[in-house]
Formats: sequence, C-alpha cells, structure tokens
Amino acid sequence: MSGYRGEGGLSPFVFNHFPVLYLYVIISFYKEAAIDLKTYLSGKKVLVEDFVSRYFEQPIAPEILHNSMKYSLLAGGKRIRPALCLTAYETCGGNGEDIMPQAAAIELIHTYSLIHDDLPAMDDDDLRRGKPTNHVIYGEAMAILAGDGLLTEAFRMFSSNDKIAPAMLLNAIHELSSAAGLFGMVAGQAMDIISEGKSHDTKILEFIHRNKTAALLKASVRLGGILYNAEDAAMSSLTGYGEAIGLAFQIVDDILDVTGTTEELGKPQGSDENKNKLTYPAVYGVERSRTMAKEQIDRALQSAEFFGPKAHWFKEIANYLLERSN
Ligand code: IPE
Ligand code: IPE
Ligand code: MG
Ligand code: MG
Ligand code: MG
Repeated sequence: MSGYRGEGGLSPFVFNHFPVLYLYVIISFYKEAAIDLKTYLSGKKVLVEDFVSRYFEQPIAPEILHNSMKYSLLAGGKRIRPALCLTAYETCGGNGEDIMPQAAAIELIHTYSLIHDDLPAMDDDDLRRGKPTNHVIYGEAMAILAGDGLLTEAFRMFSSNDKIAPAMLLNAIHELSSAAGLFGMVAGQAMDIISEGKSHDTKILEFIHRNKTAALLKASVRLGGILYNAEDAAMSSLTGYGEAIGLAFQIVDDILDVTGTTEELGKPQGSDENKNKLTYPAVYGVERSRTMAKEQIDRALQSAEFFGPKAHWFKEIANYLLERSN
C-alpha cells in the first residue's frame, strides 16, 4: 500500500540520476506555479463532472427519479469538496485520478444535502445553483427521493476501487458516514432548524456550523489522507486544515447571504434573515464575522505548513474560500 516511505536512505538510482531528477523537480515546480487557482480548480471540476456524468449515463428506473438526481447533480456548483479530497490525496503523494469514485461520491452527498436543505419543510428556497430548486421542478416527493437516492448511491460508488486497499476504503467509509450523518451534517441541520427564531446562543451557533457544513469539508480533506494511508502527522495537519476551512466556509456563506446578490450566489439572498436563522452575522455582525472567518483561514494556513512547498494548493484554496463571492 502507498504511504509515507521516507525510510531507507537515498538509493543508488537517486545518485546516478541526480541531475535528471533535479531538473524534473524544477520543471514540475514551474509547471505548477504557472497554473493559477482558477485553472487548477476548473481542472478538478471537469474531472468530477465527467466522472459523474458517465456514472449516471446508464438508465435508472423510474426515469423521473433518474432525471431528478441528474438535474441537481449536473446543475453546476463549485465542486470544492471533491477538489479538496483530490488535493489532499495529491499533496500526500498520490494521483487524484486514482480516487475519482471516492471524490465524486462526496459531491453526491453534498448535492443530496442541498436538495433536502431547500425543501419547503426546511429552508423553503426556490433557487439553487442558478436554477429552480429540485422540488420546484420535480415535486417534493421526488426531491426527497432524489436526495435519498444520491446519499445511498454515494456509498455504493465509494465502496469499490481496485487501487485502494479494502482496509483504507473501510476507514474512509467510516469517516464519511460519520461526517455526513449523526456526528456531522444531519445533526447540524437538525440544530439549524430547531434554532430558527430562538435567542442567540454562541455555543449552539458554533455547533450548527461545525456540524452542518464543516464536518463534510473536514472529512473531504481527511479522506484524501485516509485513502493514501498517510502517516499520523500528515493526518493531523489535514484535520486542522479541514476543520478551520470548514468553519470559515459556513461563516462566509452566512456573510454572503447578507452581502451578496441572488444573481451572484445562484440562490436567494436574504434567505437566512427571512427564516430568522442563527447565523454569524446575526449574532456577531458582518464585520466581526469576517474577522472570525479570517482567523480560521489563518489557522488553516498554519496547519498546512506541515507539507512545506507542497502546501501550495491548500494555501491558495484557503485564501480563495475567504474571498469568494459565491
Ligand atoms: C452550499 O455549499 C451549502 C453549504 C454547505 C454552505 P456550496 O457553496 O459548496 O455550494 P455549491 O456546491 O458550490 O453549489
Ligand atoms: C446548508 O446551510 C448546509 C447544508 C448542509 C446543506 P445553508 O442552508 O446556509 O446553505 P445554503 O445557503 O442554503 O446553500
Ligand atoms: Mg439550511
Ligand atoms: Mg439553505
Ligand atoms: Mg446559507
């Protein structure tokens, strides 16, 4: 299995080929440096969307369920969770294309969470990724089932990959199901709903954000390490990074709900205020919330230091997550 294999000293191969290897390292560095973050992330997005489109090409009965799942899955979106997973795997030393089913499965779970989040019984929103929400097009029953289908299929998709040892896959499934379920997103979403209109409580606010959003983002980063079988020190750097960008991500989402435009966001601006949600701007105001998000990003940058120059994309992504406008 792959992993950190630094032990054993330099082999004769390395000595004999030193000039060539040196040149290779320099060229790779400049090749990477020449790509900006936008190009890097759109490369990951294309990989994920190609994989998902091919996966959902085969007919599923009934056709309306198939169409409903594809409608939301292929509606766009930043694909930031799979991108983080691929980045983590590659930062540890792997080739992201070897874990496409695992990275894409995270996007299935995320998309299910958006479909359910928009339902009339939850946030009751009618626009998502710049298009009418799933239930507006397919009706509530099909939207619920499309969400159920995506969540369940995600684990089927995730559970097989010849390139990854079964033990690693099992650890990864444990990680993902914890983050998406009762020890993460579902718990956070439940707390979000029961906290609407309630008096401000900073502990509950942090619980909501750490669970409904940060848990899956943190898992996306950690999964890259788990699938690579990374050493403990690398895992703790990934954990610190993932936790911090995860919390910052939802604080920024809350800020954008106040300061963004519906057009830019592709979802209704002001949705939180309409529902009297417990958000960072509602509790701390926009300015303080920005500072708090920045503090988390600084933490993330510090955690990423473990990887030295290889932390390049982690750092770029962290800065982008703070500055993003949708
Ligand atoms: C929106 O997530 C829901 C949250 C957890 C805040 P994203 O901002 O990643 O949405 P897409 O996938 O880009 O549409
Ligand atoms: C949603 O939080 C988190 C999820 C798990 C989907 P929000 O309700 O703030 O997400 P948006 O703003 O609708 O995307
Ligand atoms: Mg919500
Ligand atoms: Mg919502
Ligand atoms: Mg929001």
